[in-house]
Order: sequence, then structure tokens, then C-alpha cells
Amino acid sequence: MPRNIITPSIQYIHNLYAQPDELLVSISSELEKRNIAIQVGAEEGRMLQILIALHGAKKIVEIGTLAGYSTIWMARALPEDGHIYTINKDPEHVKMAEGFFILSECSKKITQLTGDAHKILPDLVEKAPFDMVFIDADKISYPAYLDWAENNIRKGGLIIADNTLLAGMVAEDRPPDGIPPARWKGMRLFNERLADKNKYNATIIPTKEGLSVAIKMF
Ligand SMILES: C[S@@+](CC[C@H](N)C(=O)[O-])C[C@H]1O[C@@H](n2cnc3c(N)ncnc32)[C@H](O)[C@@H]1O
Repeated sequence: MPRNIITPSIQYIHNLYAQPDELLVSISSELEKRNIAIQVGAEEGRMLQILIALHGAKKIVEIGTLAGYSTIWMARALPEDGHIYTINKDPEHVKMAEGFFILSECSKKITQLTGDAHKILPDLVEKAPFDMVFIDADKISYPAYLDWAENNIRKGGLIIADNTLLAGMVAEDRPPDGIPPARWKGMRLFNERLADKNKYNATIIPTKEGLSVAIKMF
């Protein structure tokens, strides 16, 4: 099922709790026009907001901006002195997100960093510790992003990652057809690391894509 299909139940949640405003709707429309509507759903944007509020997160790193849809949901949940650093390697996506951030009321809370996350993350170490990392970029790199997050969020910090069920494929015993085995293995490893109870208090919220939520305990 494509990512952006809205079932009646999801629509019900949107209507009650997660109505995207004009700006968010225009981001979704632009992404649909470009055939890259792979952003989180409005219900997930709202879930990110609730997690930020519950946790009192102020300083966030997002890996994978796309057009800034999730960034704007998160920035809106931050207090006045909160900040989100969001990383993207695709110059077209960066340009698109920049345009939307300028139109938003929360652009002051957002810093966009352009480049491959593997190169950018080491530069962010000087701003650590962070309260939360949201991972939503190339799936094969999730274990490497977890290495960085482990070292650069505070004890009690949150690691949130999208697509960790690989649309159900991660539950197969071996890499199913249609997915590069390295991506499947990387995601299995990522999920198994977060399942270590000595290090994390974690689960996967069973959205269609799977949204991992982990509290770092060390
Ligand atoms: C699923 S989209 C992000 C969606 C966004 N978080 C949202 O929900 O609105 C993934 C993005 O990660 C970017 N990306 C993929 N690999 C990357 C990497 N190694 N470094 C930085 N960005 C990367 C892609 O260009 C794409 O824009």
C-alpha cells in the first residue's frame, strides 16, 4: 500500500487531532506533484509532537528532511528556546524545504544542514548532548545513525526512527525478494540493538511503516 493512502481510521485521527494547516497541506501537495510523497503522515507528525511534549525535548537532530514536513510538525511542538537541526543530502530537497521553512512561523527554531548525514553528524558533536534524534533517511545507515545517537544524546534522551518495520518485511526470517539484503540486515540489527533492555527502554509503534521509540538508559 503506498505510504500516503489515508484509511477512514487515519482520516478520523486527522480530523480530530492532526489537522494539517495550509502550509503542511501545500508541502504534501508539492511532494505528491513530484511523486516523492514519502513524508510521515499527519497522524505521525502529531505523534512526534506528543512525544516531544511528554519528554520535554528541546534540542533535536533530524536525519532526513525531505521537504520539511516532519521538521515543521516537530518545530511547532518545541518551546521558544527549542531548536531542531535537520540534515539532508539532496540539494533539490534542501531548496524545497528552505522555501517552506521561510513560510512557517517557526523558521527561527530550524537549522538546515546540507550534505550527507555521515559527514554532517560529526560536525554536530560540538552541540551535543541532544534530547532527541529522529532518524528518517537511508535505511541501510540506521545502525550507523544509532552509533552517533548513542554517543550524542543525553541519558534519558529519545531515539525515534521511522520505517523500522520495512512495511512488514523486517519480520521475515530472511531478506524477502524486492529488498536489498543489506537494508533488511541493517534494519534487523538496528531493531535488535534497541531491544537491549540494559541500554534502552524501547518499542516499535506498529504504524504501517513502524515507528521505533527508544529511551536511552545509560
Ligand atoms: C523519507 S525522507 C524524509 C521525510 C521527512 N522526515 C518527513 O517525514 O517529512 C528521506 C530523506 O532523507 C534524505 N537522505 C537519504 N540519505 C541521506 C543521507 N545519507 N544523508 C542525508 N540525507 C539523506 C533523502 O534525500 C530524503 O530527502
